[in-house]
Amino acid sequence: MDNHLDAIQTEALAVLASVHDQAALREWHAAHLAKKSPLMLALGDLGKLPKEQRAEIGRRGNEVKRTLEAAYGEKEQAVQAEALARSLGENAVDVTLPGRQPRPGHLHISTQTLRHIYQVFGEMGFQVYEAPDVETDEFNFGLLNIPPYHPARDMWDTFWLDNPQGGGSRGTLLRTHTSPGQIRAMREMVPNPVRVILPGKVYRYEQITARSEHQFYQIEGLAVGHGITLADLKGTMLNAIHRLYGADRTVRFRGSYFPFTEPSVEVDMDCVLCNGVGCRVCKYTGWLEVSGAGMVHPVVLRNGGYSPDEWSGFAFGMGMERSLLLKYSIDDIRMFYGNDLRFLRQF
Ligand code: PHE
Repeated sequence: MDNHLDAIQTEALAVLASVHDQAALREWHAAHLAKKSPLMLALGDLGKLPKEQRAEIGRRGNEVKRTLEAAYGEKEQAVQAEALARSLGENAVDVTLPGRQPRPGHLHISTQTLRHIYQVFGEMGFQVYEAPDVETDEFNFGLLNIPPYHPARDMWDTFWLDNPQGGGSRGTLLRTHTSPGQIRAMREMVPNPVRVILPGKVYRYEQITARSEHQFYQIEGLAVGHGITLADLKGTMLNAIHRLYGADRTVRFRGSYFPFTEPSVEVDMDCVLCNGVGCRVCKYTGWLEVSGAGMVHPVVLRNGGYSPDEWSGFAFGMGMERSLLLKYSIDDIRMFYGNDLRFLRQF
């Protein structure tokens, strides 16, 4: 009987030596240590043995069981270590290979264009002055000579942030133009002369189409000083347009109306595509609108803290996106805010 147990142990250990993975290990356990294994069957049969052999065989049987269990435990660890070593070998990372290069980003076309505009006006002595996007009715309209009843309010479809009726002049809104910044700049700089541009987003409660967005950039300009005339406005606009659109552009002033300038003008340049001949882009007029402008209205000067008897000034406000549409033949203004990288990477 002893020989039988020895044979069981020898056989089991021999098989275990050839085990190299989890599946084989599980199989081995089922065959050599589980209920129906030869060892367990032998231990189960102890009762059938003659009394004097039982203790000796039982002791030896338990010895074999402990030996096999210990061997199993060791093997289990060895199999795990082997599996780990194998996976490290197979999925080896070569740390000396060059990594994936992150793709450097670049400035949005709007930002690039704004910076170019800052450059051009900066060379003419204009500082950049930033004003808030959320404005009050008072700054966006009232102080710009557009009282609540005034029909000129219809020129700017407005995103109200609270009830304009209930709030009266305290109503808040998203600025419909950069002109309220004129008042803020003047009040901050009075009694010194002013020469600023006010760039930023403006918001209009309008249907979004390929031609018009509900938000876009404007660049406002304001100069206040002694003896400033319409000629200064014209010279400034002419120089800016030559720098931005090319030295051979022709500029014209056309009478217009804004409540905060007097006189008011539209500044046009000859069409960049057809050079004034007339084409689809300029609607066969030969001209493109660049900017609203004019001499700062006396009421606005006074609201800014400057006496119109001693001071005068000019102001202009131009949109940015439309001119980019022309320059790059972009046929949809929505591209600017669409976040489509295929579009953005072109600039
Ligand atoms: N704020 C005007 C607009 O948005 C443009 C403008 C600015 C006109 C300054 C005159 C002077 O239409």
